[in-house]
Amino acid sequence: MKQKIAVFASGAGSNAQKIIDHFKASEIAEVSLIACNKPGAGVLTIAEREQIEQVVIEKEQYKQDGYAAFLKEKGIDFVVLAGFLLKIPQPLIDAYPRKIVNIHPALLPNYGGKGMYGAFVHQAVIANQEKQSGITIHYVDEHYDHGDIIFQATCDIEPGDSPEQLAQKIHLLEHAHFPAVIEQVIQQHCY
Ligand code: GRF
Repeated sequence: MKQKIAVFASGAGSNAQKIIDHFKASEIAEVSLIACNKPGAGVLTIAEREQIEQVVIEKEQYKQDGYAAFLKEKGIDFVVLAGFLLKIPQPLIDAYPRKIVNIHPALLPNYGGKGMYGAFVHQAVIANQEKQSGITIHYVDEHYDHGDIIFQATCDIEPGDSPEQLAQKIHLLEHAHFPAVIEQVIQQHCY
């Protein structure tokens, strides 16, 4: 039986699109649900176009159990956070032990935590004149950007690089690595 993946996202969804494309040819898993807390977000347009079931997250229900019961009802086996800005509540972590992974656009443990997302991350990295940045894929626990690290990749920062240029380099890294790392983790845990 193919593993069912739910992708949680809050924004444009470029990573969600790469993950959907990757698993179209996979024997082991498929993206069967897109969950989003921002009505009108680009990722919902992608879900529509790809004819993948979508759910717009409501605050009250999310506070109760993080949609854990809903995901179980839908037969979801694995949860991927791809630019999802809400903290994951304990009931959802308990329902999917080591089966929730997140991607962060920097080299954790640096440049992570509350308020450290999207452009804010790249602005801080550039402001600190770092020579390198990168991506971190990690298991999700009760803290922001904290769980065990599964994978990291780096990119060089050239003198004069803007936060926007760094963001583009980071997106290339994410799109190149995230889908394959998700597949490896599922293979390890589920087969
Ligand atoms: C990515 O850079 C991801 O690392 C971060 O949010 C961004 C989402 O981009 N957490 P997209 O919506 O997948 O294009």
